[in-house]
Amino acid sequence: MIFTVLTLFPSIFESPLDESLIKKARDKGLLDFNIVNIRDFATDIHRTCDDAPFGGGAGMVMKVEPIRDAMEHVDRERGRPRYVLLTPHGRIFDQEAAARFSRLPHLALVCGRYEGVDERALPLMDEEVSIGDYILSGGEAAALVVIEAVSRLVPGVLGNAASPIDESFRDGLLEYPQYTRPRGFMGMEVPETLLSGNHEDIRRWRRKQSLKRTILRRPDLMEQFRPTKEDSILIREVMEELE
Ligand code: 6GU
Repeated sequence: MIFTVLTLFPSIFESPLDESLIKKARDKGLLDFNIVNIRDFATDIHRTCDDAPFGGGAGMVMKVEPIRDAMEHVDRERGRPRYVLLTPHGRIFDQEAAARFSRLPHLALVCGRYEGVDERALPLMDEEVSIGDYILSGGEAAALVVIEAVSRLVPGVLGNAASPIDESFRDGLLEYPQYTRPRGFMGMEVPETLLSGNHEDIRRWRRKQSLKRTILRRPDLMEQFRPTKEDSILIREVMEELE
């Protein structure tokens, strides 16, 4: 999969994409990063990419022509990707969007900066995405979030092929608690069931913990959740224990 990033700050992407999982996936040829400096497509001597807003007001607005020209360059060099603008007024990026992006051959993330992007850049985009209800100074950190969430869903990127479906949000529940050695730490013991070697008991315990955690921490997720017969029994047990 190819990730193109259009940004005024290309150096932000150097070290985060050269570590750990993503580095290994690049070395294996599974992921390819194409970082494009929008400033290279500014045409005036000062290479201006932002300007004062029409109508006045504070801050600067990103100009549309360098973005358009950078996109046309990408289309010519690498074929047309799906263009996603990172902006606080986009649709919220979630695991479903990550899965959808992971099936694309080429995703382009366009990083907005300053107080915004000229509105006429929006029709050039395929969609707009936000990573949450808070304001970042630019889309760069958001692009890294999208890259990391999407990369790990690209087949072969995770060493253990089974793991992406066995974690939080697989079926809309939070992940169960995990433990490793030592068995005791500051008076806190590893739950007996996990030491029992009984795989059926362990599976049921983990399912119940996932349900409990989701009920307590993310009641909004429970509203979407469709319980199996076993889930309904476990939910009743959790609710009785909470009384
Ligand atoms: Cl994608 N961009 C900016 N600037 N702020 C954000 C965001 C994106 N997502 C959440 N906050």
